[in-house]
Amino acid sequence: MTTLNWVVLKFGGTSVSTRNNWDNIARIARARRAKGQRVLIVHSAITGITDRLEKLLLAAQQGDFESALEAIVARHRQLADELALPLGEMVEKHLRELREISTSIALVREVSDTTRARIMASGELMATDLGARYLRSAGFAIDWYDARDMLAAETRDGGNLKANILSATCDFAPDADLIARLDAGAEYAITQGFIARDADGHTVLLGRGGSDTSAAYLAARIRARRLEIWTDVPGLFSANPRTTPSARLLKSLHYDEAQEIATAGAKVLHPRCILPVRQYAIPLHVYATQMPEIAGTEIGAAFAGSAGQVKAVCIKKGMTLLSMESPGMWHQVGFLADAFAVFKKQGLSIDQVSTSETSVTVSLDPQANTLDRTILDALVDELQMLCRVQLIGPCASVSLVGHNIRGILHRLGDALELFAEQRIYMVSQAANDLNLTFLVDESQGDRLVEQLHELLIASAAEDASMGPSWAQMFGSKGPSLPPVTDAWWRAARPTLLGLMRQRTAAFVYDRQTLRDRAADLKSVSCVARIFYAMKANPHPEILRELATAGLGIECVSPGELAAVFGALPALDPTRVLFTPNFAGRDEYQDAYQRGVWVTIDNLDVLQRWPDVFAGRDILLRVDPGIGRGHHPHVRTAGSASKFGIPLVELDLLPDLLAAVPARVVGLHAHSGSGVFDIMSWAETATLLATQAARLPHVRIINIGGGLGVPDRSGRMPLSMPQFAAALAAVKLQYPNLEFWLEPGRFLVAEAGVLLAQVTQIKRKGSTRFVGVATGMNSLLRPALYGAHHDIFNLTRLDQPATETVQVVGPICESADVLGHDRDLPVTEPGDVLLIATAGAYGHAMSSRYNLREPAEELLI
Ligand code: LLP
Repeated sequence: MTTLNWVVLKFGGTSVSTRNNWDNIARIARARRAKGQRVLIVHSAITGITDRLEKLLLAAQQGDFESALEAIVARHRQLADELALPLGEMVEKHLRELREISTSIALVREVSDTTRARIMASGELMATDLGARYLRSAGFAIDWYDARDMLAAETRDGGNLKANILSATCDFAPDADLIARLDAGAEYAITQGFIARDADGHTVLLGRGGSDTSAAYLAARIRARRLEIWTDVPGLFSANPRTTPSARLLKSLHYDEAQEIATAGAKVLHPRCILPVRQYAIPLHVYATQMPEIAGTEIGAAFAGSAGQVKAVCIKKGMTLLSMESPGMWHQVGFLADAFAVFKKQGLSIDQVSTSETSVTVSLDPQANTLDRTILDALVDELQMLCRVQLIGPCASVSLVGHNIRGILHRLGDALELFAEQRIYMVSQAANDLNLTFLVDESQGDRLVEQLHELLIASAAEDASMGPSWAQMFGSKGPSLPPVTDAWWRAARPTLLGLMRQRTAAFVYDRQTLRDRAADLKSVSCVARIFYAMKANPHPEILRELATAGLGIECVSPGELAAVFGALPALDPTRVLFTPNFAGRDEYQDAYQRGVWVTIDNLDVLQRWPDVFAGRDILLRVDPGIGRGHHPHVRTAGSASKFGIPLVELDLLPDLLAAVPARVVGLHAHSGSGVFDIMSWAETATLLATQAARLPHVRIINIGGGLGVPDRSGRMPLSMPQFAAALAAVKLQYPNLEFWLEPGRFLVAEAGVLLAQVTQIKRKGSTRFVGVATGMNSLLRPALYGAHHDIFNLTRLDQPATETVQVVGPICESADVLGHDRDLPVTEPGDVLLIATAGAYGHAMSSRYNLREPAEELLI
């Protein structure tokens, strides 16, 4: 072989669709040439053309293809005009051919795979002709090559079968003749992605997205120095940056990792393109055509990957799961072979497998399979002869990718906590130790990616292989982020620091944020009444503020009832709801005397104290069965929970009520606190509405509170429009029921911060403690639930965080840590730290433990 001096540059559809991008391509190619390298450009069809060719085929089969063809002609003409070129002989020849073939398809109304491949190939053939002519017009000495003369499709089964015409693979062994041919030609060469030729001389395709693979095959065949894939994002990211702006650029990856990331759902690289370059140790770079100055991702054998670092969180949607259960499977020889033979017969490729003694679950990827109903039905029919079969879907597979994933399992503790709210259908850990995958409901997928990414990557320690985040690179170009940067307390910083001149600790609440959150909830139009769960924060000013905003108040004790009427003496008692748990007789009596709504959560009280309830209207708290929430302590449903009446007991209700006599006018359920699953409330509403049907007087359903608030920057807040839409869908079916809501946290969490002065700094080995004036006596949540609260040095808000510290309080308990491993600027005694999202369950749960008074409360 002669020179081994080629680099292969592959450009995708968007990269070749504008003059601007073509000028970038010219610059990039020249820069490579200036380094003495020869350049082979491989590119795709103009963006959208492959889809239009598919449409043309469909239209032709229906006998009317004129407009579909016209769209293809027009798009090529538009680019030619932009490039100041005539359409040209070759493009015109292909367009003529498209017309001829379409005409014959319209006659016979069917298309063979060979014809389909010919039609689809014309997109690349036409685009590369325009590209070559444009570069020539810009002064390039460039030869146009037909990729079908360079790539030969492999036959399946050692030559006995034909190549797969629509998704062929090619031989990529180095080819000295090809190298010699290129060497002898012009300085630059250009050819098509996506297409090759089979042994019979027919055009074949490499499957959708196959241009990356073409470029990798060619790089291997000509033993290129490197392969560069130029696309519309500047490299591989630790998550899809369009949905996760905190996703970080992966500067360097091992082939293995890149392979896993591509296979696990990232769309930047085609999964098949890694093997050829890996086999010949050709470095692979990923760059963005529009941003050639960004360094991108480099993939090679040298980047072994730091042990135990999750590099990416990937998602694939539209997955179908199939679970096969058979008690007889245990120790049965050949069960898997028989079952998998059925998949093979249906032509289905399996993505992940997990097995137990009596069941096997597999996932099917829509990218790799045609998963239409007929195929799935046939599959299920046949499998049913072997075992019990259940189809589950649509699901999302969420994968954590990185070397030595097993080595980080212990760090996944926090992350796994997220799954408490989710149904996980399957977990699978790849034997190569590069990937850990969870299959969950599709609707949960994005949120899970978001949270896992935040826990495992965005907040991970510095890693040399990680570059800046998408948000850092492009700022507002990313999708909108939760409004952390404009949290109210940033603007109020001078006021807050002023307040802290006279004290060492304080909870400060912002009225406007309370009003904003109340307005958010009131935008949910299908909810008739909102009761603020005052247990989250019973400060009298907050009660007044929220009552003024039109909200009712939910109380759980005589003390809370007294506090409401103390703060709001003129409040109409029907705006107050009493929902106690294991309350005494006097408490119910007192509540009825005040004229407030009363919820009971045990039927026993009706039998025991009929006189208290005689002639009264009652709401019943039922147990929805599934607990949800940010921590086991705040999940309030299920048989182990002390809350709610089991649904089966409702059968006793008519007799009990008749005996008292009393009327049940409403049903209530609250499954937990800190919930982000939008469907949770819609499910509760459906459950309650269904039960309501058997109780003649029920007109209210109270679907509880529990609306989650992100506990750190970068996490997605609950979407109110989505929340409203999910509920509205249920409400539509039950127009006669009034929907009530009783959130606490959502209204007050973000409105409050805890400010605490730094008292002392201590070092022990490499650990640095920052001591503040108050701790778990003011904010118990970190100690009780391991809850996270973002912590900032308010005094030095503009300084970069350069040290990692433990923020601790003065209480004599090792649990008195407000924040573990927090990054702060160099912090000194006297600085003021701000502990965020402390408006809910902060002061409300404080104590005088150690006889230290909790921080006082202030409103601004
Ligand atoms: N309704 C009922 C019946 C409740 O038990 C609760 C909270 C709520 C409404 C209000 O839930 P929210 O919207 O605030 O999530 N101390 C824990 C939270 C405990 C919640 C207890 N019940 C924490 O700091 O996270």
